[in-house]
Amino acid sequence: HAADRLVVAVDGPSGSGKSSVCRAAAAALGAAYLDTGAMYRAATWYCLREEVDLGDPEAVAVAVAELPLTISTNPDHQVVTVGEADVTAAIREATISEKVSQVATNPEARAVLIAAQRRIIDRAGFIVAEGRDITTVVAPDAQVRVLLTASAEARLKRRGAQLGGTQDPEALRRQVLDRDTKDSAASNFTEAADGVAVLDSSDLSFEETVESLTSRVLLAQGAR
Ligand code: DC
Repeated sequence: HAADRLVVAVDGPSGSGKSSVCRAAAAALGAAYLDTGAMYRAATWYCLREEVDLGDPEAVAVAVAELPLTISTNPDHQVVTVGEADVTAAIREATISEKVSQVATNPEARAVLIAAQRRIIDRAGFIVAEGRDITTVVAPDAQVRVLLTASAEARLKRRGAQLGGTQDPEALRRQVLDRDTKDSAASNFTEAADGVAVLDSSDLSFEETVESLTSRVLLAQGAR
């Protein structure tokens, strides 16, 4: 039903707090939640298990086309499976983070995952979907489109805190900024496209950022 459809599209770099912010906002709003990055990660996990040569774009495209993926859209209960395997934890491992850009930069693999993302969004109706190309490619018609950013400094600080604050600052900087460079090869998420609102969380607490996102959604809901 078109009238029940409210799609909230959020893009942003890694370390912007995007996933936790979107999950909390979806839970508060009673909306579904889709972590599209988890789908790229699951595809990468599958390629590794199937011993697909990640340097072979055709082999990657074939593997992703047959990926037996399920992903939950409950913000309070995230489960990702590939066939019989629950990969929810495994897709967060460093091996996956290091290799995922080889799948994310594959145009055919992207087309398969984008089609799956659109189906999930259509089925949910009211959903917060986050990634790198949601506002621009996956759901450019979303009623709420937000680019969630944070300064490199703020993202470095958060990532450092996440890791316990014990690592070498130079190594951490390299890790976070290298990741941005790799990710931006797949899609441009560093600038807001036309009609996309920028939400800069550099000077906001987690709660303030969630609040800012949910208030935009409530405004859009009220406007209908
Ligand atoms: O957000 P994340 O770190 O879980 O994303 C994993 C990888 O997938 C990262 O390299 C960016 C990529 N990605 C993408 O290209 N498009 C998306 N919509 C989501 C993630």
